[in-house]
Amino acid sequence: MVISLNKDKKVRHIIKSQQFEVGFLQSLFHRVAQIKKQFENGAGRVILRQRLSNKLLINLFYEASTRTRLSFAAAAYHLGMNVMGTENAREFSSAIKGETLEDSIKVLCHYCPDAIVIRHHEEGSVAKAAEISNVSIINAGDGKGQHPTQALLDLYTVWERLKTLNNLKILVGGDLAYGRTVRSLVYLLSKFQGTEFIFCAPEVLRMQPDIKDHLDEHSIPYVEVFENISKVIPLADVVYWTRIQKERIEANLDLDQITKEFTIDMNTMALMKPFSILMHPLPRVHEITTDVDSDIRAAYFEQAGNGMYVRMALLEWILT
Ligand code: CP
Repeated sequence: MVISLNKDKKVRHIIKSQQFEVGFLQSLFHRVAQIKKQFENGAGRVILRQRLSNKLLINLFYEASTRTRLSFAAAAYHLGMNVMGTENAREFSSAIKGETLEDSIKVLCHYCPDAIVIRHHEEGSVAKAAEISNVSIINAGDGKGQHPTQALLDLYTVWERLKTLNNLKILVGGDLAYGRTVRSLVYLLSKFQGTEFIFCAPEVLRMQPDIKDHLDEHSIPYVEVFENISKVIPLADVVYWTRIQKERIEANLDLDQITKEFTIDMNTMALMKPFSILMHPLPRVHEITTDVDSDIRAAYFEQAGNGMYVRMALLEWILT
């Protein structure tokens, strides 16, 4: 039986991680697991292809993307949807002539899509688009704000690998000042019992006060570490590593040196718990060496693969 997630048939938007409750996440993840299983055979795929047939998805990406844009397109395809859109919309859309995102959304709504996926360079822009849209808007990353569908696929991967989301010690490392995936993930994980965080970043790229305020308000323990990752790696059940976001950082920082100090290699892996997992939203640049990929605890490519199934379940949720 298909798990029905959208019982009240409202226009649904996906804007930020805080909007999801634990009960919803549990239902969502069971549906994702069901879709993955169904996908294993040809007959299951044929049935999925009929779920959202004749519906239209628009992908509107003002910033670069490989995974998010193409996994949404693949998710929509496997559910029978049609997909159109633009990449590099800053240059290839009328944004270059000065059109605002709000005006573009008002126009696109007249073309009767069922959902619009937006990645934009300004924090808060996707929420503003949702306010004036009469179709579902999905935040695929807004500046250094949030990336909620990434956080959902991250959390699904933890659940699939570790079989629980409670009582986990999560080491989040790399660029915590500009990494929107970690911001969304912390909001989601902080909903589960017994979560503890270790934030490990160069001091200039430390976790922002709004996230720490949120954790304080909900009495969720965290520590901050600005150097020596080898001391904290052995403590973690989940190590979530991130890229230094060069494109968002002032040019005068020595980013190569920072990256060197915050690199995970086989020596670091030797310190990790045997049943822990190493995650990364990707793209990876140099912060995890490629020899780590064959370690059983390296979950990042599997994590990226889960993105398509999680996005299929999300499209079903908002559109059926
Ligand atoms: N993880 C992620 O958002 O990847 P892309 O930038 O390639 O979409």
